[in-house]
Amino acid sequence: MKVRTRAAPLWLAVTAIGVSFPTHAEDISGTRVFQARCAACHALDEHRWGPALRGVVGRPVANQPGYDYSRALKSARFQWTEELLDRWLQNPAALVPGARMRAHFSDAKERDAVIAYLKAQGGVAERAVTPVAGGS
Ligand code: HEC
Repeated sequence: MKVRTRAAPLWLAVTAIGVSFPTHAEDISGTRVFQARCAACHALDEHRWGPALRGVVGRPVANQPGYDYSRALKSARFQWTEELLDRWLQNPAALVPGARMRAHFSDAKERDAVIAYLKAQGGVAERAVTPVAGGS
């Protein structure tokens, strides 16, 4: 009897933690962020309104054959790092004035998630290139 009365509150406490934890867990999936925030304009392996993004982490800016980049982005000289991507996603035109991507992402966790997702999508060497109709 004594054991049960002492055990019950402990069990409740554990349950309470178990119940509340998932609502606080950081469950932001990079795949979902990409689908929700980028896929309207980007795909991984083909050019849409924006260029194909597979392997973007580590690749030189504006280097995708067959995509007609803005002059601003074409004349930029840097390689995409996670930090630069983070700045780009917050405000593309602040990083590269004249860039054509009109989208701003203010949620740092979403930016982190989608950058991690892009990083996990493999590099340029591994990618299966899909030629784009009409591309040069
Ligand atoms: C409204 C359309 C649109 C949305 C939404 C959008 N982009 Fe873009 N993105 C573009 C366009 C257009 C360009 C080409 C910019 C240029 O040429 O100046 C671009 C370029 C880029 C580049 C440069 C690629 C390279 O080859 O140098 C990166 C990286 C990028 N976008 C990432 C993202 C990510 C990640 C998201 C989602 C979080 C996203 N974009 C959402 C339109 C969009």
